[in-house]
Formats: sequence, C-alpha cells, structure tokens
Amino acid sequence: MMRTFTRASEPLRGTVHVPGDKSLSHRAVLFAALAEGTTRLVGVLDSADVRCTIEAVRTLGAHVDLKAAGDGSLGGIVRGWGRSCPLSWEPVIDCGNSGTTARLVMGVLAGWPTRVTLTGDESLSKRPMRRVTEPLARMGATIETTEDGTLPISITGCALLKAIDYTSPVASAQVKSAILLAGLRANGRTSVTEPALSRDHTERLLPAFGVAVEIDQARCASAIQGPAIPTAPVEIAVPRDPSSAAFMVAAGLLVPGSKVVLPGVSLNETRTGFLRILERMGADIEVVPWPEAGRERFGEIVAKHASRLVATTVRAEEIPALVDEVPILALVAALAHGETVFEGVGELRVKESDRLAAIVEGLGALGATARVQGDSLVVSGPATLTAATLDSLGDHRLAMTWAIAALVADGPVVIDRFEAVDVSYPRFAEDLAGLGAAAE
Ligand code: S3P
Repeated sequence: MMRTFTRASEPLRGTVHVPGDKSLSHRAVLFAALAEGTTRLVGVLDSADVRCTIEAVRTLGAHVDLKAAGDGSLGGIVRGWGRSCPLSWEPVIDCGNSGTTARLVMGVLAGWPTRVTLTGDESLSKRPMRRVTEPLARMGATIETTEDGTLPISITGCALLKAIDYTSPVASAQVKSAILLAGLRANGRTSVTEPALSRDHTERLLPAFGVAVEIDQARCASAIQGPAIPTAPVEIAVPRDPSSAAFMVAAGLLVPGSKVVLPGVSLNETRTGFLRILERMGADIEVVPWPEAGRERFGEIVAKHASRLVATTVRAEEIPALVDEVPILALVAALAHGETVFEGVGELRVKESDRLAAIVEGLGALGATARVQGDSLVVSGPATLTAATLDSLGDHRLAMTWAIAALVADGPVVIDRFEAVDVSYPRFAEDLAGLGAAAE
C-alpha cells in the first residue's frame, strides 16, 4: 500500500497513547504460556508481530483468550502448559516478520522433547539464527537450519538441557533471552555475558513468574538456575512502547511550535537511550516517571519543538539501548547542525531490512547526506528535505521514519509498502493525524 505524507502546516499538539511495548508483549504472552496457572494480561500490543507469538504459544498448547480492549490493546488471560509438555506432533510455527518470536520460541523449545519447525517471511528468512542455534545446540538441542543458518529451522529439544556459561559475540536481548529461557530446562546455572548491555525485560519479568534471575549489570551478565517452572502471577500490565513513542517525540521536536505528550511509556533505561541522545542534541524533552509496575519504570514523555539541534557522537556501547531508534535518530541528525556519528551499528544490517543501507539511500533521496564508514553511520546536517518516493522495504521502522521526514520536507513523501507499520504500530498514521499532521 502506497501512502503519502505532507509537510505539517500547523504545530503538532496533543496527547498520543502509543501502543503497548512490543518486546514486553512478546515476553508477557510467552512467559504466561510457559507458566503453571493462569496469567491476566493487560495493555498487550495488538500487532502482526505479537500475533505471531500468540499463535505460536497456542499451537504449542497454551490457552490464550485475549480480546481487543477499547484503547486498541489486547487484554485477557493465558493459561500456560506449565509442567506438561507442549504439543508434540511436529507442528510448523510461522513467525512472520518477528525475530523475537523465532529466537525466543527456539529457546523455549530447546528444553522439550518434541520436534517443531519454525518458518518466517522473506525478511525473517534472511536473518541470522546461528547466534541462537549454536548455544542451544551446546545445551543439547538438535537443530537443523538452512546452509546459511537461517529459517526454516527444525528443532528437536532435549528433556534436560546442559547448563552453560555463554559469552555472546553480539549484544542481543533476543540471544540472551533464548538462552535464559532454555536455562529454565537445564540442570544447573546458565549464564549469558554480552559485549554491552542489551534490553533487560526478560530479567525483569521472569521474577514476576517466580524465577530468580542474577543480574551483574557491570559485567553485562545474567544467569538463572534450572530447572525451574515459572508460576503464573496474578496480572502483568504492559507499559507503552518507547520505540513507538520515539517517532512521536521526533515529530514534536522537528515541527515548529509543537508539543506532544506521551503518557504511560516504558522508561526502562535499556530502551530509552534515544532520549539521552536527543537531549544531548539540544532537544527539550520532559520525562515524568510514574510509580513502578512489575519492575519496569514507566511514565510520561513531553516533547517540544527544538529550535536548534546539534550533532553528537553516539558511542558503540550506547547503541543497544537505542538499537531500534537509529533510523529516526538518523533523520533527526540530518536536521541537526554538524556531523553525527553512530558508532558500531553493524547489527543494523541484519534487522527487518538492511537498515544501514536503507537509511543512507532514504536520506539521500530526501536530499540529506549520510554514509556508512566501516560499522559507523555518519549523517551530516542540517539538510533541507525534499519530496521523495521511498520503499519501506517491508520494514516498519523505516516506514514510520519516512512519514516523520515528510512533516518537515518541502514536498510530499510517498511511502511504498506502508502497511509494514502493522508489525509494531498499526494506528501510527491515525495517531499522527490526531496531532494535526496530514496524510493522504
Ligand atoms: C528485541 C531485541 C532487539 C530489537 C528487537 C526486539 C527483543 O533485537 O532490535 O526489535 O524483544 O528482545 P536484538 O536483541 O537482536 O538486538
């Protein structure tokens, strides 16, 4: 689907309730499916990606009764399989576009004596899976991948896995979570150490299911003691997604006279690196924390127009806390004074698209200057953005980045395959229109 966005003729003003956090929604559904008992979930993101996890756990034997609530989120109950083995008749699970579904479900399946095949769409079928299959095979799972180490993957689990101490070559919450979930079915202590700290939702949420997690933030290490069966907590409330909020924050910063209010957003520090970078660039952002829920900080973000933005250097160790926000930050950098460098962003090549190449190409088409230098992305500004026709490449974060670019471009921005936004933020265009932005 083609969609055209145009320059904002008025300041953007208003409150946006961005949808539930994608990472936490996947985990809330999945952990509830593993647990003994029934968990009530509220605020779950209703999007294509999360629906893949819901279908996956249903196929594996969890009872899921989640219904659309008035605010567009999903709420209801999940009754887990707990002590009983998930479904054993060789099912095929379609993970769609969702790397989180594929990688976390593999971690779950590694510890059950059943054979399951995982498939995905064209984009997911290109993404690297050895980063998960290798450690899981070391723990005792039997895994067949394509020659390139990609989906489709068949995994035959092992009833009692071997606990391992794993040092991951990449800072990836998906890798870390897969291994910790397999560790639930291992005999002894399973630990994961990363080169930099990735998002820590798994570590924060598992204790709500009665599973203790050791966290050594200074060493970027986490560990759990297995075997352990999670037990259902009474309720999990999912805060709103900071990665979705980032687009609305950028809209507020870039359009003169704007003020955008975003209540109930996760303020987990392993996710809000973009706020720290934008503040460094001169943005006027107010963050008001609300009382904690389920060990996840959340609160209100208020973004106002920034009259002058300046370039910055984002260091490699800062990237995991903003890894999904590099496209929108690169757009902001194109409008800031000076040369912004994002160091150590090689991982962007293996996201839902090759985001490094797509950012350079997309910003170029909009009249801005960006280049890749080794594993760094360099963006020069300030640019005057022009009309362009851009392909989302089926990547939700690119579709939303180019829509925000249109708000300050001299001509319309036409986005092909705009429906990619359904992966994480189905109501994105409506929410943007609610602030006063125009779309055709
Ligand atoms: C996610 C982790 C990140 C992120 C993805 C969701 C998660 O991937 O890019 O959108 O839910 O764990 P990596 O952990 O592979 O960096």
